[in-house]
Amino acid sequence: MSLEKKVVILKDAPALAHAAAEMIMQGAATAIATRGRFTLALSGGSTPEAAYEIIKRDFSAQGNWAKWFIFMGDERAVPADDPVSNLGMARRTMLHGLPIASEQIFTVHTQLPPPAAAADYEKRIQAFFGSAAPRFDLILLGLGDDGHTASLFPGHSARHETHKLVTWSPPGTLPPPVDRITFTFPLINQARKVVFLMAGEKKKKVVRQLLSKNVNPELIPAANVHPLDGELIYMMDQAAHG
Ligand code: 6PG
Repeated sequence: MSLEKKVVILKDAPALAHAAAEMIMQGAATAIATRGRFTLALSGGSTPEAAYEIIKRDFSAQGNWAKWFIFMGDERAVPADDPVSNLGMARRTMLHGLPIASEQIFTVHTQLPPPAAAADYEKRIQAFFGSAAPRFDLILLGLGDDGHTASLFPGHSARHETHKLVTWSPPGTLPPPVDRITFTFPLINQARKVVFLMAGEKKKKVVRQLLSKNVNPELIPAANVHPLDGELIYMMDQAAHG
């Protein structure tokens, strides 16, 4: 069971972005103080962009950046300079403005075919964590209007993966129509903390489904996120909560 499951509602999208940026910085400080490093998996999608920008703009002087290790929770099978690349978005909004060495940023090798890229990413994640089970300090996730999270889509088998840490998926029904490489639920659920960032009126219906006691995880894959020994936080703006 999750240690804790919390719903945090902010006034609007800018307030959500601020709260998310502060939560990430606080998570980094705690992880570095207790374990000497901060392992963070970023989400793609539009909701976290503003939080990443705030980290770069307001917190660049505060971070202990040499201790940050950044991974992509999911990636689109496109080069980093493609406008829909999640890494490209993270670089533009945050990474390029911070003193984080490229060796501290673990990117998906999207030049490989997706199944090979997933296997290669899993190997590098496992090597980073060594003999210990890969346990991220913080995994950020989004919630798709169709109930997906990371790139674990309804109707696609990646959501049923029980062994691999990373897998690949054909696209879901939402754009962009490109293959994905994605953390699996077993990897996500080993994290110390998982935070969903959700904003906007168009998320209201799926947020209600996700938070319902009777949620069907087959239809709303995001409902499979239950850190085994960690915290689960749903952060959203008022519009998404309704
Ligand atoms: C991606 C994602 C994805 C995203 C959700 C929510 O690469 O598309 O990481 O899981 O987080 O689709 O995206 P929005 O925040 O844009 O609604």
